[in-house]
Amino acid sequence: MKKLIFTLLCACLTTGMLFAQPAWFNDKDLTLTGAYYYPEHWDESQWERDFKQMHELGFEFTHFAEFAWAQLEPEEGKYDFTWLDKAVALADKYQLKVIMCTSTATPPVWLSRKYPEILIKQEDGTILDHGARQHASFASPVYRELSYKMIEKLAQHYGNDPRIIGWQLDNEPAVQFDYNPAAEVAFRQFLRNKYHNNIKEVNDAWGTAFWSEVYSSFDEITLPKTAQMFMNHHQILDYRRFAAGQTNDFLNEQCLLIKKHARNQWVTTNYIPNYDEGHIGGSPDLDFVSYTRYMVYGDNEGIGRRGYRVGNPLRIAFANDFFRPVQGTYGVMELQPGQVNWGSINPQPLPGAVRLWLWSVFAGGSDFTCTYRYRQPLYGTEQYHYGIVNTDGTTITPGGREFEQFMKEIKQLRTQAKAREVKPADYRARRTAILFNHENAWSIERQKQNRTWNTMAHVEKYYRTLKSFGAPVDIINESKDLSQYPVVIAPAYQMADKALVDRWTEYVKQGGNLVLTCRTAQKDRYGRLPEAPFGSMIDELTGNEMEFYDLLLPEEPGKYVMDGKEYTWNTWGEILKPGKDCHTWGKYIEEFYEGKPAISTRKLGKGSITYVGIDSTDGALEKDVLKKLYAELNIPVMDLPYGVTMEYRNGLGIVLNYSDKPYSFTLPAGAKALIGTTDIPTAGVLVFALKQ
Ligand code: GAL
Repeated sequence: MKKLIFTLLCACLTTGMLFAQPAWFNDKDLTLTGAYYYPEHWDESQWERDFKQMHELGFEFTHFAEFAWAQLEPEEGKYDFTWLDKAVALADKYQLKVIMCTSTATPPVWLSRKYPEILIKQEDGTILDHGARQHASFASPVYRELSYKMIEKLAQHYGNDPRIIGWQLDNEPAVQFDYNPAAEVAFRQFLRNKYHNNIKEVNDAWGTAFWSEVYSSFDEITLPKTAQMFMNHHQILDYRRFAAGQTNDFLNEQCLLIKKHARNQWVTTNYIPNYDEGHIGGSPDLDFVSYTRYMVYGDNEGIGRRGYRVGNPLRIAFANDFFRPVQGTYGVMELQPGQVNWGSINPQPLPGAVRLWLWSVFAGGSDFTCTYRYRQPLYGTEQYHYGIVNTDGTTITPGGREFEQFMKEIKQLRTQAKAREVKPADYRARRTAILFNHENAWSIERQKQNRTWNTMAHVEKYYRTLKSFGAPVDIINESKDLSQYPVVIAPAYQMADKALVDRWTEYVKQGGNLVLTCRTAQKDRYGRLPEAPFGSMIDELTGNEMEFYDLLLPEEPGKYVMDGKEYTWNTWGEILKPGKDCHTWGKYIEEFYEGKPAISTRKLGKGSITYVGIDSTDGALEKDVLKKLYAELNIPVMDLPYGVTMEYRNGLGIVLNYSDKPYSFTLPAGAKALIGTTDIPTAGVLVFALKQ
């Protein structure tokens, strides 16, 4: 027994097992694949045919009832689950498990007519109406109550049903900027709670002495208007926190209701990865978070002339790295199987691209992918949206064939895959966290100071570099333990406090390597400047003082030189006065502060702190800074060209080629190609097994 425990312990140490195996999924399955199906859209006589074909293609689950409130509760308080029971039974006949949905995104017409106060009101006074979807206000107590009644009935009915694997709440629940009177009432209540029912605290937090904005009671406060460009941004900050909280509370309450009745079924929702909305991960009772992802919709974010057929090389990777750390696992609820209907232009994906996206989702460590959708709709808003099958209901689309191929490949790999965390030591050694708080982006975007500043683009300069290193990246928030990462990067982390700076300092002293970048810790959590030298909250940590910052016109960028190489910049540059034990990296040239540095690094305790007070035009400087730092830290990195990414999981290496050129990959010693070849074409995939 002792020997067994020892062996297991060694296995954990050598494989770097950091998360426990997610309880909801079986490692041996690698990943599950499913497809959305709306029984209510199709003649009942076709359901069996469709599930049979779905099963034959290799799908293992389906997805029901997402927008079916009108069919589930045709009259207030009268529920009808018979049709859904039939669909669940038929799916089961073809070994398809079911994800059940709460359908709150589409309230039935009786609800909107009898209780019009549930409808969202826009800032200009427009009241949304029945006939589309997502027109109900999460702040409306009536809407919530009626939602909860319906959900509880559904959970009572299906909560103990082993054919149902899990639940999806609502659909792409976003943060609503809703001017419904109920939202205003709720906002005042949020402020009362936050500021201890003391209006003076609000006035201090929002700096209302400025421009006579002072309030004498909570009832005078209204929702901030975006039409007023100079609206108090401290108020906007609180409003955004409140609005994100409304979505989170609504989801969490739904989740708790389901959990009252559910046995062994997980609960999640399908977020759109809008990183700056600030709600993802904010409903604590969800078992994990999932996302929806569309890759081809008319904008060319890809590489080369037809890059729009393949999509942005890091779009799925970033979502993986953002969602996985929330609870250690994630799924993808919607992945397009072909053309969509809602893009500015809806081109065909490049042959192979759908499979490339599937492998990209897998590479990040997901447990499932579901495609939107199985059948192409014959009527309604999404008529031009491809499915796994064509408008005739049976002909497999090209994307459907790519799903089929992927599912076959996964089944083949299941026979030999290792545990999830079997990953090589050099890969684990470059594990890096990016500390991210959407509130920084909210705050900076209101006071950019330079129209070309883009907070997400700044973060992506670091992210893109890390992916070229072949580094596993976790995008984390402050609730996570930093000490598990050899390197943590906090880009443009504008709002901070002493507690956070103390945590950063401790992390470094204990051996961590922290990278802070420009605009960090300049404001407190209300978005106010501390009464101290500008930006000085982190001086003790970085060892620097900031003399001033400068911003240039994009047409006339400035120059920074490091190790003999020149870089351009314009959006933000800090001029540092480094302390005695700081090493400076590079200097400004051709400005009145020529010769002064923006980058410094120093050892502190057992770790190091690097400060990069400049944002380069194209990310080249950020890349070279990280290269220099990882070399100093003896962290081995790769040098993958943009468009090629690689990850490890289950003892498998996965190399993905989003570029417009073939890529030739050199296998690590003793590795064996299992899927694809080392010459990887555009939209191609290589999967290899690590040396045994
Ligand atoms: C998603 C949405 C789905 C469907 C899909 C079409 O954003 O969640 O319900 O509308 O787009 O591509």
